[in-house]
Amino acid sequence: MSGGAAKKEEKPRKFQAIKGVRDLLPPETALWNRVEQTAHEVFATFGFGEIRPPIFEPTELFARAVGGETDIVSKEMYTFEDRDETSVSLRPEATASVCRAYIEHGMQQLPQPVKLYYMGPMFRRERPQKGRYRQFYQIGAEVLGGIDAPAIDVEVIEMVMTFFDKLDLQGLRLSVNSIGCRECRPKYVELLRAELLKVKDKLGPDSQRRIETNPLRVLDSKLESEQKIIEKLPRISDHLCKDCAEHYAAVKQELDLRGVKYRENWRLVRGLDYYMRTTFEITAQGLGSQDAVCGGGRYDSLVGLLGGPPTNGIGFAIGEDRLILSLQESGKAPVVRSRDVYIAWMGEKAHATAVRAAKDLRKAGFSVELPPVEQKFGKALGQADKLGARFALILGDNEVTSGEWTLKTLADGSQAKFTEPNLLEHLCRNKALSS
Ligand code: HAM
Repeated sequence: MSGGAAKKEEKPRKFQAIKGVRDLLPPETALWNRVEQTAHEVFATFGFGEIRPPIFEPTELFARAVGGETDIVSKEMYTFEDRDETSVSLRPEATASVCRAYIEHGMQQLPQPVKLYYMGPMFRRERPQKGRYRQFYQIGAEVLGGIDAPAIDVEVIEMVMTFFDKLDLQGLRLSVNSIGCRECRPKYVELLRAELLKVKDKLGPDSQRRIETNPLRVLDSKLESEQKIIEKLPRISDHLCKDCAEHYAAVKQELDLRGVKYRENWRLVRGLDYYMRTTFEITAQGLGSQDAVCGGGRYDSLVGLLGGPPTNGIGFAIGEDRLILSLQESGKAPVVRSRDVYIAWMGEKAHATAVRAAKDLRKAGFSVELPPVEQKFGKALGQADKLGARFALILGDNEVTSGEWTLKTLADGSQAKFTEPNLLEHLCRNKALSS
């Protein structure tokens, strides 16, 4: 005998997903797929092609693009040393990657602008709460190269709104702003800093710190006690240079032209360093404090900053988790039925017929559950009910012999008999009516 006295058996550890990350499960995943499919379709109508950048990149890429002082880079990235001792990070966003790819693949040689979109997981070590996760999903798009015409900014916004409309997302509010350029913003920032220093004592510790590091972010503050003070600060709209003022005016004109409703928010500065001129954010209903479902803006110097040729850029990213949450909260999430038909069969002859029926129904696009072993009809119907099937197809030896199959509608319990071809026709008609 080996091992001697019986060692106390350890219960195997049960694992749980890490804090702030979660499993997406059916039937909800069907909604995710529908949302993503709609994005593919709508973005294609605007001439965008899909890019799939990697999930991790050199840490330096994000530090350079998003900004070393930003919360995202300084506190929230998942960073590790690879075996060759290079520092890599899970992507906290994808604009940096898209710009890196634009340069790496010489996309400036392509007809400009290059229009790309992406979808996938992003990672930020934030405090988890409703609508805020450490692994979350974005659907984003970027326009790179070509001119910086205001109509491009607005077409990008129009594309998001078209996508949201198609999904029937409720309670949408679009806020826009211009945060100026390298010419006018530094002067405004200095003015803002000087004004903030005058009221420093009345500000909270975060804002006090930001007077030095990034005074623009003070405008973002949600702290109740700071709101009245912030309202009295100088506004960037009064300090834009001539080119930026004209660009912003044209953006607003284009929004009107396209019938896109918006409001101006001079405090919309965004938490990433690469923006200039147009910034925008969209909120939706049912999300509580984390109600920004999309954010974006123009970033004309980013590609240059990453070692590429001077290149204009504008884009946005939608928080897919929040988008789904908002659809669910407003009752606009379409009900996805898990099965159209449950085949309740009994008997050997019926089994062969059931296998054939399942094949034909699936070929016609129906979702079919075919139990692997025979079940008493009562049990089978109970199972069909639990699965939320729409119909039960009852196949016993009688049905097979007579060629008349019984179809039960589970919602009202009604039954009708059909021949095989009639059944398919009936189901197809029904599907067309219900979709
Ligand atoms: P962002 O504002 O950092 O922008 O993120 C865009 C959206 O992603 C947010 O509005 C929100 O819906 C969602 N999001 C952000 N963090 C989380 C989180 N922890 N949990 C759930 N959802 C979240 C960007 O990422 C820029 N790259 C957008 C962009 C593209 N600008 C130009 N091009």
